[in-house]
Amino acid sequence: MSTLILGIESSCDDTSAAVIRDGYLLSNVVASQAVHEAYGGVVPELASRAHQQNIVPVVHEALKRAGVTKEELSAVAFTRGPGLMGSLLVGVSFAKGFARSLGIPMVDVNHLNGHVLAHFIQVEGEETDQPEYPFLCLLVSGGNSQIILVRGYNDMEILGQTIDDAAGEAIDKCSKVMGLGYPGGPIIDRLARQGNPKAYSFSKPHIPGLDYSFSGLKTSFLYSLKQWLQEDPQFIAHHKEDLAASLEATVVEILMDKLRKASKQCGIKQVAVAGGVSANNGLRQAFKDHAAKYGWKIFIPKFSYTTDNAAMIAIAGYFKYLDKQFCPMEAPAYSRVSL
Ligand code: KG4
Repeated sequence: MSTLILGIESSCDDTSAAVIRDGYLLSNVVASQAVHEAYGGVVPELASRAHQQNIVPVVHEALKRAGVTKEELSAVAFTRGPGLMGSLLVGVSFAKGFARSLGIPMVDVNHLNGHVLAHFIQVEGEETDQPEYPFLCLLVSGGNSQIILVRGYNDMEILGQTIDDAAGEAIDKCSKVMGLGYPGGPIIDRLARQGNPKAYSFSKPHIPGLDYSFSGLKTSFLYSLKQWLQEDPQFIAHHKEDLAASLEATVVEILMDKLRKASKQCGIKQVAVAGGVSANNGLRQAFKDHAAKYGWKIFIPKFSYTTDNAAMIAIAGYFKYLDKQFCPMEAPAYSRVSL
């Protein structure tokens, strides 16, 4: 008999549901919330309300596209944390009610584990190159920048992480002060393709070990920008491509320096990247360059699995389901947690 898992993701501003059969993706529906654009960032209360509106139609659509009925499901996997508490509660409460009404088990998934395990999603008719344990994963999103040693689907160790801002957060904030829009990551990425990455230099952190820091870069960017704007009020309009390219290049360099160090220290050359920032073209190219130069075997996710999605929650839930790691009905959501 096949194993059918419904995955539910609602940790931030994307409501998503996905269905996986025996590790193969049947559907992945994501409803993004445009309501936050006007505010230049996610407004938690608005996010919770939008999740409430979206969750039922999104789950319905995911089941429909997968061509399965809810009665066929083996379990419901859901993001239990970390994330925005109000947003998480919508997905967690829905998963509990749905699983209870169907009399099937629930599997709780750590959102960050989900990002890493997105590399194991298989699609019928598509060849997927999956990493073998152990491997390293650079997890870069709006809220996290971590180097993770992945020994097994349920055995992950954070070797290094940001001590202040995350990489995506720094890019988003710099983009915001340039008045470029929200979220800044994709805008900076697009502009950077037309700019000179060596046009400007910004400060880089000197943090021991494998930890990251991005707040110094952000401050140096803002300070330089202020000075340039005093000399030329049109500075951003004239130089946004070069600014974006130089900012992106610095972020990528900071990320790759520590990742190279981790690979050397662990003697591991299988290196994956995950999270929203892994959509960045400069970072993807840096991975390819490292593969050529250092003999890394690299794993770069499909664009659809980079930002928040339920397919990654469903695959993580599938592995836990096979090991019968079910979640009790009283399990609360959690807003903060490490792996
Ligand atoms: O993993 P994710 O979807 O969610 C959370 O962290 O909640 O990551 C979102 C982050 C944002 O900072 C966004 O600006 C960034 O990923 N991002 C990118 C790109 N696409 C999304 N950053 C750089 N280049 C991109 N193409």
